Amino acid sequence: MKQIYLDYNASTPVAPEVAAIMRGMLEDGFGNPSSPHWAGAPARQAVESARRQVAGLLGCAPEEIVFTSGGSEANNLALKGVFFASGRERPHIVATRIEHPAIVAPCQFLERLGATVTWLPVDGTGRVDPDDLRRAITPNTIVVSIMHANNEVGTIQPIADCAAIAHEHGILFHSDAAQSVGKIPTRVENLGVDLLTIAGHKLYAPKGIGALYIRQGIALEPLIHGAGHESGRRAGTESALLAAALGEASILAADLEPMREVEALRDRFWARLQEHFGAGVVLNGHPEQRLPNTLNVCFVGRVGADILAALPEVAASTGSACHSGRIELSPVLLAMDVEPEVGMGAIRFSLGRGTTGEDLDAVVAGLTAVLTPSGIELRR
Ligand SMILES: Cc1ncc(COP(=O)(O)O)c(C=O)c1O
Repeated sequence: MKQIYLDYNASTPVAPEVAAIMRGMLEDGFGNPSSPHWAGAPARQAVESARRQVAGLLGCAPEEIVFTSGGSEANNLALKGVFFASGRERPHIVATRIEHPAIVAPCQFLERLGATVTWLPVDGTGRVDPDDLRRAITPNTIVVSIMHANNEVGTIQPIADCAAIAHEHGILFHSDAAQSVGKIPTRVENLGVDLLTIAGHKLYAPKGIGALYIRQGIALEPLIHGAGHESGRRAGTESALLAAALGEASILAADLEPMREVEALRDRFWARLQEHFGAGVVLNGHPEQRLPNTLNVCFVGRVGADILAALPEVAASTGSACHSGRIELSPVLLAMDVEPEVGMGAIRFSLGRGTTGEDLDAVVAGLTAVLTPSGIELRR
């Protein structure tokens, strides 16, 4: 079996168009974007043109985009930036139980500095109930952070409804859109968000670059203090190389047409798994409100890590981890109340631009070989 990559939610390869832009930048344009002389001009132009391209993808003004090192930094800047700028005595934050660690850990850090955090529950499909958000808001709430789409199961949240509730109370709304950009529409006006995170390596740009959309007029304390780069919101000489890569990737991501094909492949893959395994395979996540590339399934009574170990050519992720001989479900599956005997068999297949029908057929054949009674002995 050839190597098959089905882990696009973990990271994407760099698109050829993006690599071509980067190659040109490596050979030219070494100057400092802040230098006023001839050597700085091309680097500055590259950064500013990239900012316009990212803004074009999100439907905002270029001045509302701050480049960061990735999704984690953008999330940290959003939460800590609002916290430190708020000047409140006992600030309160609302997030969900299924956020990425890049939201969970900054919230826990801010708890140590005196914030309180309410973690909203989700239903069995991984969706938040906007009424739960309404009930969670207190007079001290400074920011609500709800991810646009979940990285593990792909469930898409009712962001516009939740943002409207936050705004009724004059509260800022942040969404981590690291997984949704380039897969579903992410125009900030339609989502109604004040802050939005994107991560380059989830949309065919390299690792090490991301961005935070900050609605005009919002005061954020920077994480990195120094000179006045990024309009004083993130000090440090910008990487024109990485910014240009994210800019080019944003142009590609704005075209959602290739995702229709990915979705059709994903749906055919799921249909074939059901044909082969019947009630032995269960879908995790929302049946419709889900990223078009994501298929998270449980092989009932099996251990996801064992299945993947028996198929080393297939790059995919599990939804459980083995700690001291015990299988522990991911916090996302736990929040969705997935039964341990079912959830331990979770595997996330995430498809992308390079996925083919033949790849998926080969994975179905491989799974059938290892999961039939005569196949490789797996833990039960
Ligand atoms: C939903 C979500 N947020 C944030 C991140 C972190 O992004 P980065 O790896 O660019 O820091 C990820 C990456 O897995 C993610 O899936």
